[in-house]
Amino acid sequence: MQYKRILLKLSGEALMGDRDYGIDPKRLKEYALEIKQVVEKGIEVAIVIGGGNIFRGVSGAANGMDRVQGDHMGMLATCINGLALQSALEDVGVYTRMQTALEIKEVAEPYIKRKAIRHLEKGRVVIFGAGTGNPYFTTDTAAVLRAIEIDADAILKGTRVDGIYNDDPEKNKDAIKFETITFKDVIEKGLKVMDMTAFTLSEENKLPIIVFDMNKNGNLVKLVSGEPIGTIVDY
Ligand code: GTP
Repeated sequence: MQYKRILLKLSGEALMGDRDYGIDPKRLKEYALEIKQVVEKGIEVAIVIGGGNIFRGVSGAANGMDRVQGDHMGMLATCINGLALQSALEDVGVYTRMQTALEIKEVAEPYIKRKAIRHLEKGRVVIFGAGTGNPYFTTDTAAVLRAIEIDADAILKGTRVDGIYNDDPEKNKDAIKFETITFKDVIEKGLKVMDMTAFTLSEENKLPIIVFDMNKNGNLVKLVSGEPIGTIVDY
């Protein structure tokens, strides 16, 4: 097995499925079943999920809202998604714990690194909600931060494209996909993998990032089994 402990980053938008807003129960169940297969392989799984299907602080700010208020709303949106995912995972028989960076103790445990690691060691999926708990940071940054804290082997960024290309594959059909690429090359070629805060935090801490298509059935389990899925950004 390639990985012992992973941090899976899911986008909030992906939970919409074919909808324009909110959560598609079908997509949620598909994700839960994908994650279950990985857990059954004995791999420890932590998850950070975005909130863009419900609210984005940046978009709120663009429409005149105070940015900090907007980001607080976005953080709460990630908690809503986290709870939905927790429910879907438990529904398919996966043990989970949710921890949040903002205290909402009646709803979920507060984030405590040592407790998160114990949960992982016991085979529970740990969902981290509320991003980093601070405005002006993305959930990608939260994902890298938590991955480093829990000493994950890699961060797996589930997207709707199957890796990193030299050009936008949705616009240019001749775009070429990288199997592996270095952090340095990503910067030199001006490719977009994550926002710079998240990306440099990952690079400085030698945390590999794997970008892959989370919406293709079986991809996640193939990836953790060592099959060449997606693009690996390594140092
Ligand atoms: P171990 O006993 O260490 O294996 O872990 P555990 O999570 O089962 O034990 P604990 O007694 O801490 O938690 C029991 C249940 O309560 C779990 O479902 C936790 O997620 C939940 N829980 C623990 N602390 C909190 C909290 O601060 N807020 C909320 N809402 N739930 C909590």
